[in-house]
Amino acid sequence: MISELVLGAMYFGTRTDANTSFALLDRFVEAGGRTIDTANCYAFWADESGAGGQSEAVIGEWLRADAGRRERVEISTKVGVEPDPHGGVEGLSPDVVRRESARSLERLGVDTVDLYWAHAPDPGTPVAETAEVMDELVRNGVVRRLGASNFPTWLVERARCHAAGRALTPFTALQLSTSYVEQRPGAPVEGKDHRFGWVTEETRHYVAAHDLELWAYSPLLQGAFDRPDRAFPEAYDHPGTTRRLAVLQDVAGRLGVRPGQVVLSWLLHSSPVVRPIIGVSSVEQLDEAIAAGELALDLELMAELDAPR
Ligand SMILES: NC(=O)c1ccc[n+]([C@@H]2O[C@H](COP(=O)([O-])OP(=O)(O)OC[C@H]3O[C@@H](n4cnc5c(N)ncnc54)[C@H](OP(=O)(O)O)[C@@H]3O)[C@@H](O)[C@H]2O)c1
Repeated sequence: MISELVLGAMYFGTRTDANTSFALLDRFVEAGGRTIDTANCYAFWADESGAGGQSEAVIGEWLRADAGRRERVEISTKVGVEPDPHGGVEGLSPDVVRRESARSLERLGVDTVDLYWAHAPDPGTPVAETAEVMDELVRNGVVRRLGASNFPTWLVERARCHAAGRALTPFTALQLSTSYVEQRPGAPVEGKDHRFGWVTEETRHYVAAHDLELWAYSPLLQGAFDRPDRAFPEAYDHPGTTRRLAVLQDVAGRLGVRPGQVVLSWLLHSSPVVRPIIGVSSVEQLDEAIAAGELALDLELMAELDAPR
């Protein structure tokens, strides 16, 4: 299942220096990983310039160093939340999507990206316009597939209906946050979190009904399952979390692995399948994630893990 893991490159070129980023990319591919996730805006908040692009640039440098690498990986990148010069956010207007896709290709040094995401909804642009310009990228051969991140389900459906009515390429992948524990419904949205950024029961139903791909960002909640120095955010403070963490500890203990590894494996074994996007800052952390990708959870263990609510 390692080919289902996605390597998150959010901090490559900023908090994670170039050499470490190259080592992570090398190790991921050597272990059988294929898919890399980045965005045009990564990671503007971690760079003194206040602008993104460092992650795509580092991936581009790695790809250029060996011509064979492009064939071995699938690259996904995003548009829509890079800050604009007026203190706002770039959004998803046709001009921005055309301009930013060209910039992403240039930084990455590639002719095509395998999956292009609308990073977050843009209230200032009708979703039909975004769907049309993203289809244009597919028709021009610079993008293979399309996805939506942080969109409420109704807006994804609206975009897909618009695409279906005009024979455009639809969104076929959703990128949201989820993990083994879930936030309290109605918990306040914190800081930079996206209002519609979480997988819900409705998301799972929608994904299964339309055979869409589901990717999970921040599945390890910054390491909270394994590290006392990383607390679970307050929104996870409810009895369901207590019950789930008890079962998780127990299962991890019996398997002789860390709880975070069980979380990654549980996502991969879930129905519908959830592809975890691995955020790691060292090869040791990546090796743990790869081992989690090799971990088999049988039906009994899955039922045990699924039970607490
Ligand atoms: N679409 C979106 O809006 C969106 C939003 C956020 C992220 N993403 C994507 O999702 C990816 C992952 O996001 P994330 O970084 O927030 O993920 P995360 O799973 O919440 O956290 C990753 C962090 O957990 C810690 N960690 C990971 N493995 C560990 C291990 N084995 N032992 C101890 N600590 C460990 C590391 O912290 P330290 O580095 O501090 O050690 C690592 O940086 C990003 O790279 C990006 O591609 C997408």
